[in-house]
Formats: sequence, structure tokens, C-alpha cells
Amino acid sequence: MSGGIAFFDSGMGGLSVLKHFLERFPGTSVTYLGDTARFPYGTKSRETIVRFAREDARFLAEMKPDLIIAACFTVSSQAFVEFSEEVRPIPTLGVLEAGARVASALTRSGSIGVLATEGTIRSNAYPRLISGIDPAIRVFAQPCPLFAPLVEEGWVSGAVAEAVSMEYLAPFLTKWKSVDTVILGCTHYPPLLPVLQKILPDVTFVDPGYELALEISNRNLVKDHPERHSTMRFFVTDGVERFLRIGQNLLKRPMGDVVLVDPVSEKLAEHGERS
Ligand code: DGL
Repeated sequence: MSGGIAFFDSGMGGLSVLKHFLERFPGTSVTYLGDTARFPYGTKSRETIVRFAREDARFLAEMKPDLIIAACFTVSSQAFVEFSEEVRPIPTLGVLEAGARVASALTRSGSIGVLATEGTIRSNAYPRLISGIDPAIRVFAQPCPLFAPLVEEGWVSGAVAEAVSMEYLAPFLTKWKSVDTVILGCTHYPPLLPVLQKILPDVTFVDPGYELALEISNRNLVKDHPERHSTMRFFVTDGVERFLRIGQNLLKRPMGDVVLVDPVSEKLAEHGERS
């Protein structure tokens, strides 16, 4: 099968990005690869992220999609150029730009907060992007490593979620009070939005997955295939049952079949590069 839009992520978090896409493009065929065996990416070195991203993207490229989207912020911030080269001429998109543009347009104070993984913050990708849009805007970044496991456990409200969120958002209540717009710069953070809003009620939170889907629509990046029966295909590298169980909460719809794959050996075996 060829055509359609392919997404990949370090695991199931990217389903929160896919969710917005499917709401806007319900008839489009999609393929999703979640690299659950190697999750998380957010704490790994850039070299490792680049290698994983290349392998994931190459696996999807074999299916000849119309577009490959890195639904993972860690990949988008550290390995976008490399994975895009790997799958050329298939067009690619990352998940950072649309949200950065919207946040830059929304801020009145000229101070934007970014919540993300350590890797995304270390890459400096958001400050670079935002200063390219408006050099006067200041960016304040906060890594939130406990958010991903909290969301994976479904603990998106209640005492624990509130305590952890309070800890991470404390700087915005003290030294970064000028921040009026915060980017949810990680696949796992949007489900925590109600808790975050309760702590920072005057701040506007930007969900980059939503903004990406809107931008894809505005730029007409999705080709219509009205004659084709639309499909949703899911591949994971480990834990099919867990992916189905937790992923459906992030996607907000049933997933159907999830297939276990090994992007590395399948690709290498096919090309005879492995003994
Ligand atoms: N998907 C990752 C991201 O958006 C979050 C989880 C991880 O650390 O892999 O950055």
C-alpha cells in the first residue's frame, strides 16, 4: 500500500498528535509507528536519537507515504534534518514550528514558556525557532521528566498530578511571572492541560499537535484520495497490549489491530545488509 500520512514517535505519546490530525482529516489513511521498545527518547543522547529516528523513518518510507511526520518533539528538535535526508524525496514535517509560530503570535508580554523533555530543551530548538520569528521574545524552558510516566499511567488528575505539576510550574509563579504563553512541547503533556491551567489560570497554553493539524490544513499538505478506502495502521516495537490499552485514551478512538515490528532488522534483512 502506498500514499497516506505516516507518523512516528518514541512510543504512544504521538497519538495525541495523531488525534488532532484525524479530527481534521477523518478520511485520510494513516500509519503510525511507536518505538515503544526504545522509549523514552527524551533522556537519550543526540547521536542515539538521530539513529533511532533514521531507522523509524526508513521503516515508514518503505510504505511510500505522501508525508512523514515526526510526532515526537525530541526527534523534531534533534534529528529532523537527518531523518528527512534518510527518506528523501518523501516530504517530512516536525511538530515544533506550528506551535512556535502560534505562541509567538499570541504572547503580549514577549515571554514564552516551554515545557518539554530534557533532550528537547538541551537542543535549544524552541529558543532558536522563536528568535527566528521574533528576536525580542524571551523563552523560559522547564524540563518535566515525570509528566510522561504520569500520563502513561493515566494519572492526569488528582493529588499526584497536581503536586508534580506544581513543582514544575513553580518558576512561572515566581521568577518567570512575565510568561503569558506556554508551549506544551512534548507529546505526553496535553492530557495534563486541566491541571496546568488550574495552576496558571492566566496563561495561554499552546498544544502544538492541534496547531500542526491546522497548519497542514491551511497549507493543503494532504492530498485527497477520494476513491481510496481510508485505513489506520499501527506498528509498535514492543508491548502491543499496553499500547492498545493506554493509547486509546490518548487517541480518543478505537485503534483496531496493532502489529509488532522491528524496524531495524526488517529493513536490513530486506536489503541483505545483515548476515
Ligand atoms: N515523545 C517524546 C517527546 O515528545 C516524549 C517521550 C520520550 O521521552 O520519548 O519528546
